[in-house]
Amino acid sequence: MKGLKYYIKDSVKNHYAIGAYNFVNMEMLKGICEGAKIAKSPTIVAVSEGAFKYMDENFLLGLYKGALKSYSGIPLFLHLDHGKSFEMCKKAVDLKFNSVMIDGSSLSFEENVLLTKKVVEYAHAHGVLVEAELGVLKGVEDNVSALTNVYTDPLKAKEFVERTNCDTLAVAIGTSHGAYKFSGEAKLRFDILSEIEKNLPSFPLVLHGASSVPQKYVEKINKFGGNVKGAKGVDERLLAKACREHNVYKINSDTDLRMAYISTLREHLKENPDNIDLRKFNSLAIEEIKQLVAEKNRCFNNIDRI
Ligand code: G3H
Ligand code: 13P
Ligand code: ZN
Repeated sequence: MKGLKYYIKDSVKNHYAIGAYNFVNMEMLKGICEGAKIAKSPTIVAVSEGAFKYMDENFLLGLYKGALKSYSGIPLFLHLDHGKSFEMCKKAVDLKFNSVMIDGSSLSFEENVLLTKKVVEYAHAHGVLVEAELGVLKGVEDNVSALTNVYTDPLKAKEFVERTNCDTLAVAIGTSHGAYKFSGEAKLRFDILSEIEKNLPSFPLVLHGASSVPQKYVEKINKFGGNVKGAKGVDERLLAKACREHNVYKINSDTDLRMAYISTLREHLKENPDNIDLRKFNSLAIEEIKQLVAEKNRCFNNIDRI
């Protein structure tokens, strides 16, 4: 089976992006794998620091190893999402993750360079790839919180990559974490992305906060007792453009999977108040995530890539 390094190159060369999907339990992971199987897509399964603590390393590795066995034809890569410290990244490297993200985006440029470099040296010595981040995404997630976007500076991006030797770079061009990304028109700064690419030709870039927040989930959650009014994500046409016309090789989605899961549960529980069998609604959630991931992979031009 080809490794992550191969697929990173292949995706930039052939203008598709690999979906990086966060999971926190077996149902999410299974839905992701099922979706990857339909679309025949190399896929990254991502664990945030919060998810790492929630599952604990034994459960998460057990789930991942199980997925590798049950979906042996699918290249599935395990990735640490938003590692905030050297120690956290080291732990993931020692556990043989395929790649780790060191997120020093909230630090000063110099501090980010130093921290990233340290992680790169350790990870590369153990054959693990490193994603770094430059620029700040608006929004809140575990350990990461910001009120406004600070777009990636294209000149600084070149200096950052040269000094740290990171393998891939997450850039801030207007996406943000969570379900409320835009109050007005959804816009991404493709001009900044093009400038970054001029300075870093063929360098693999990453988009975080790229959920599209399908309105069918927003409506379902609101209809069945939830409240996510006004939730809005990144237009899928913008994501399709980012992978087909730019060097975006990895697109992160967590919120969409959460919404697929929760909307299914809410509907089922409301309509079946007597059900106490978890498998009934969890099976529906797996199916919903499967369809979502397959659709996303099509949007990312990641079909029949194995
Ligand atoms: O940005 C990544 C994920 O959405 C992180 O979510 O930290 O709540 O697991 P979490
Ligand atoms: P979303 O909140 O848009 O799904 O972003 C997820 C993400 O960037 C994970 O790192
Ligand atoms: Zn992120």
